Amino acid sequence: MEYTVKSGNPEKQRIGCVVIPVYASRKLSSSAKIIDKASNGFISNLVRRGEIEGDLGNTLLLHNVENTLCDRVLLIGCGKEKDINVNTFYKINCTMVKTLQSSGATEIASYLTEVVVKRKDISWKIQHSIEAIDECLYKFNQLKSDKKETRRPLRKFIFSVSGRGQLMQGEQAVRQGMAISAGIHLAKDLGNLPGNMCTPTYLANQSLKLAKQHSNVKTTVLEEKDMEKLGMGSLLSVSKGSREPAKLITIEYSAGDKKQAPIVFVGKGVTFDSGGISLKPGAGMDEMKYDMCGAASVIGVLSACADLQLPINVIGVIPTVENMPDGIASRPGDIVTSMSGQTIEILNTDAEGRLILCDALTYVEKFNPDVVIDIATLTGACIVALGAHPAGLLSNHNPLANDLLSAGQTSGDRCWQLPLWDDYQDQLKSNFADMANIGGKGAGTITAACFLSRFTKKYHWAHLDIAGVAWKSGAHKGATGRPVGLLAQYVLDKVQAAK
Ligand code: BES
Ligand code: MN
Ligand code: ZN
Repeated sequence: MEYTVKSGNPEKQRIGCVVIPVYASRKLSSSAKIIDKASNGFISNLVRRGEIEGDLGNTLLLHNVENTLCDRVLLIGCGKEKDINVNTFYKINCTMVKTLQSSGATEIASYLTEVVVKRKDISWKIQHSIEAIDECLYKFNQLKSDKKETRRPLRKFIFSVSGRGQLMQGEQAVRQGMAISAGIHLAKDLGNLPGNMCTPTYLANQSLKLAKQHSNVKTTVLEEKDMEKLGMGSLLSVSKGSREPAKLITIEYSAGDKKQAPIVFVGKGVTFDSGGISLKPGAGMDEMKYDMCGAASVIGVLSACADLQLPINVIGVIPTVENMPDGIASRPGDIVTSMSGQTIEILNTDAEGRLILCDALTYVEKFNPDVVIDIATLTGACIVALGAHPAGLLSNHNPLANDLLSAGQTSGDRCWQLPLWDDYQDQLKSNFADMANIGGKGAGTITAACFLSRFTKKYHWAHLDIAGVAWKSGAHKGATGRPVGLLAQYVLDKVQAAK
């Protein structure tokens, strides 16, 4: 889809469709009033007759409105004018897209930019409209033989801004929206690809592709023999049971000062999690193809940073493996030595995420990071605790946690902090090794983070448990691309703070 910005009155737009907000209790927006005036009260007459109430979800499609140059005018109910927030703004955009898709219009001029979203400016509205529109249009068709292309797909979207002064700002917002949306799209595609296609090798090739596209992106891939030399006994103990070789991918985006310490993202890349010898139950096991969504979000956010050529250094590190049962797979009770030298008793082979992350978290010390943020579909317990709305957030550095909470509020891709208290560390005691890989009953998300915290003492670190947010189950099963929006906003805030 092509996105642009433009200033000018709605009745003057020579285009397929003009989109106009209407508020609850039949209240006309400024752009609605302008069309109403041009058409000699046509809109206010319809509204008075009760054709549209203005509630959230209401739509009214009009053709050949008098004294306008457009083919159609689409009125969109936005609810109470003062109640529009990040969530309702998203719903308004979605309703608009669904209605436009069946309208036959291909080129759109939207005046939804005039609605007031609490504490958000015009740039935010444009950027997030793009993300919302692309989200509603997303389909994963690549593996269906009948691709079902829409007959007359939306092609062009113009956001109206008030006056020329807003044009530059609007264009920057379009660039940001499109780059982040492309990153989200990429993360969704990687997530939706099945385990027989999206293997560790595939993720490595996708990461290498990113380096081909941008001169300041460098990707390196470590093989199992390299990891052996580094002493990554914990990571390798997971991939042992699979025919797919493990990879450790590093994607370096360097567009900041050479001396500037990088932001490091570490993404869990389990391309299929069967549980291993601690085999998972059969029902819903297909969804464990999504156990690489942390990795996908790292690739997605790096793609967005590179598209925007942000003046900053960001590194993505992806430990990627497949967790399978096999004659040579790890068994419960096995003890392995991590790269840090700490030993781990594997009491459950299904707690594999932390086993690959801990070695990656030791590995990233070499980058002297400003901060390290890992992103992982780590625990079912996180879904029990927080459901599908926020990601779980745990951190050893409160300023970092606050930055992530704030980026979540701005982007709408939210996280919620859980305590990383030492009190929980006792649950990881092992009689035979330095620690066990599971924490027993209670606080599964926290004990998983406690496990990771033993490998992150040398830097500022945050952990995002995305088990509840990375994909949807049921009829709308599919990857969400989260938390690319959150991570991209975090990086953008960092760039802003450095100015
Ligand atoms: N990938 C799973 C976590 C998961 C499960 C995410 C379901 C989303 C939905 C992870 O590897 C896992 O299996 N965790 C175990 C940990 C347990 C054995 C301590 C879990 O959550 O059951
Ligand atoms: Mn598991
Ligand atoms: Zn897993």
